[in-house]
Amino acid sequence: MSETKKIALIIGGSRGIGKAIALRLAKSGFDLWITYKSNHIAAEETKKEIESLKSFCQLFAFDISDHQATNEALGKITDETPPDVVVFNAGIARDNLMVWMTKEEWDSVISTNLDGFYNVMHVLLFPMLRQKKGRIVIISSTSGQIGQAGQVNYSAAKAGLIGAAKALAREVGRKNIFVNVVSPGVIETEMTSDLPKDKILPLIPLQRFGQVDDVASVVNFLCTEEDMYIHGQVIGVNGGLAI
Ligand SMILES: NC(=O)c1ccc[n+]([C@@H]2O[C@H](COP(=O)([O-])OP(=O)(O)OC[C@H]3O[C@@H](n4cnc5c(N)ncnc54)[C@H](OP(=O)(O)O)[C@@H]3O)[C@@H](O)[C@H]2O)c1
Repeated sequence: MSETKKIALIIGGSRGIGKAIALRLAKSGFDLWITYKSNHIAAEETKKEIESLKSFCQLFAFDISDHQATNEALGKITDETPPDVVVFNAGIARDNLMVWMTKEEWDSVISTNLDGFYNVMHVLLFPMLRQKKGRIVIISSTSGQIGQAGQVNYSAAKAGLIGAAKALAREVGRKNIFVNVVSPGVIETEMTSDLPKDKILPLIPLQRFGQVDDVASVVNFLCTEEDMYIHGQVIGVNGGLAI
């Protein structure tokens, strides 16, 4: 790790939107700590790409729904060196109509997307408060803002993140820690590869699906802008899908 560069911790930064955010922040001059669950090949590839941008990259593999594993992975390192920026991006979807939704589908989405937020932020917050500065960006979803049929579990978790972010923003603003939410619509990643795109496209005023860089550029702004008065806000990146 270089002595002078700021550190950005990307939770779920090895693939998709998180990877684009990591690369964008590396271009902005950050060193990166990237977490992921189990896809080591994708993570190693992302690390190589970050290093080719002359930034340091450290990988951490653990399941954010596991409280103890999260503490063990992040506790010591973040206590010694609190990150300047945290992007909570990891998330999963297990879609089904509510009437058919299994307990496992409900629990897995809530425990990763929402309990994961508690597990991660609870380790990080005290060291960040000690620093009296920082930027936290949480990736929610349009589904959490307007609801999506077939995604009661996912919409609940993503709406929960918005409530959590707003409350946290009220708690830590006076300590010079900014908290904001970025809420993507339909972005082309592995997560959305099976969606019926022909049915969704007519609902998007901009008439295209989002790209990972559309999200990364907004996160980069929230993490780097010096003249910053945006706090506790939800910024949609959805091509007008929700207005
Ligand atoms: N794609 C969209 O259209 C869209 C729209 C709105 C919101 N979002 C949100 O944006 C975020 C990223 O989406 P994406 O499409 O880029 O997802 P993705 O390609 O599936 O990548 C998900 C990332 O999160 C990590 N992850 C998943 N479960 C984890 C767990 N239990 N513990 C630790 N890490 C975990 C993955 O690690 P592994 O590689 O090891 O699995 C990976 O790094 C998610 O929160 C998603 O809900 C996406």
